[in-house]
Amino acid sequence: MKQEKIILTGDRPTGKLHIGHYVGSLRRRVELQNSGLYDKIFIFEADGQALTDNIDNPEKVRQNVIEVALDYLACGIDPKKSTIFIQSQIPELCELTFYFMDLVTVSRLQRNPTVKTEIQMRNFETSIPVGFFTYPISQAADITAFKATTVPVGEDQEPMLEQAREIVRRFNHIYGETLVEPNILLPENAACLRLPGTDGKAKMSKSLGNCIYLSDSADEVEKKVKSMYTDPNHIKVTDPGQIEGNTVFTYLDAFSKQEHFERYLPEYQNLDELKAHYQRGGLGDMKVKKLLAAIMQEELEPIRNRRKEFEKDIPAVCEMLRQGCEVAREAAAQTLSEVRRAMKINYFDDETFVAEQTARFTAAK
Ligand code: TRP
Repeated sequence: MKQEKIILTGDRPTGKLHIGHYVGSLRRRVELQNSGLYDKIFIFEADGQALTDNIDNPEKVRQNVIEVALDYLACGIDPKKSTIFIQSQIPELCELTFYFMDLVTVSRLQRNPTVKTEIQMRNFETSIPVGFFTYPISQAADITAFKATTVPVGEDQEPMLEQAREIVRRFNHIYGETLVEPNILLPENAACLRLPGTDGKAKMSKSLGNCIYLSDSADEVEKKVKSMYTDPNHIKVTDPGQIEGNTVFTYLDAFSKQEHFERYLPEYQNLDELKAHYQRGGLGDMKVKKLLAAIMQEELEPIRNRRKEFEKDIPAVCEMLRQGCEVAREAAAQTLSEVRRAMKINYFDDETFVAEQTARFTAAK
């Protein structure tokens, strides 16, 4: 049988999605979805994983499940082409995690760089919740339960994918070819690997208040772009300016296309010319910010409008998710039945077990 090409990826529903998510993954997912190159696409909300470090705040996760679904739909994820589902509604994922736990050592998890930094970020050092510590195992279950071949994620997820691949290899080695080794698919544009916050800090985060959300109004976007961090030493227009670490230019790297220059700033051929002028001196921040604002509005307006449309019919969004969970559950159940057979714990699938055990005890007589 020809190997199916299957995409799986997801997000923790701990907040509305922002443009960092958009350039880093959502935009690409929509392209992949519409490329017609994939047999199946699963996009899911990792609510169980979100709870591993929000255990005392279930309301936060609950309130964001629909927000994130709206963001998906607004960006162009189409439930007719992609299955959108919620992790917690697929109990097979817990079962698979339970089996995988025997294939991973504590020291291997301790070496996982993503887990390491996340433990530090959350000040968990002295009391790490077991569920948080082991979430790479559950993430491997998310991926393999759907036999995903392709996992489009940011570079920070590389250790997760490596862990998943190891688990698959170990499983298949012990129990026979059953699971599929997934491949990571990283973003193409370097500026998209991680979009900084509007304040120039390395990461967009809700707590820092430096995000532009997909649901932000045109006014909010305008305001946020106008107050963006640039080069602090570029004081007079005539001063030479720095491009590196200049958020406005990083965003232009991520968002601008050739055609935008013809449309909004025809005196420049392309971004390189604009950058060169800025570096020489004589180009003011406001002019660059105006260009960025125009480009971002152009990209975000259709998303914002689609989101508003979907917001008018929340019951339909819930129903879409419910159906997605059903489809996903069927796919995971199929894999789990193969897993149980491989692990020899499928006692009641057919009559084989009864016959085999009967024969044993008859022979013993
Ligand atoms: N860990 C991912 C994140 O924080 C979310 C996630 C959970 C995921 N399970 C996954 C992504 C499986 C890809 C595949 O963004």
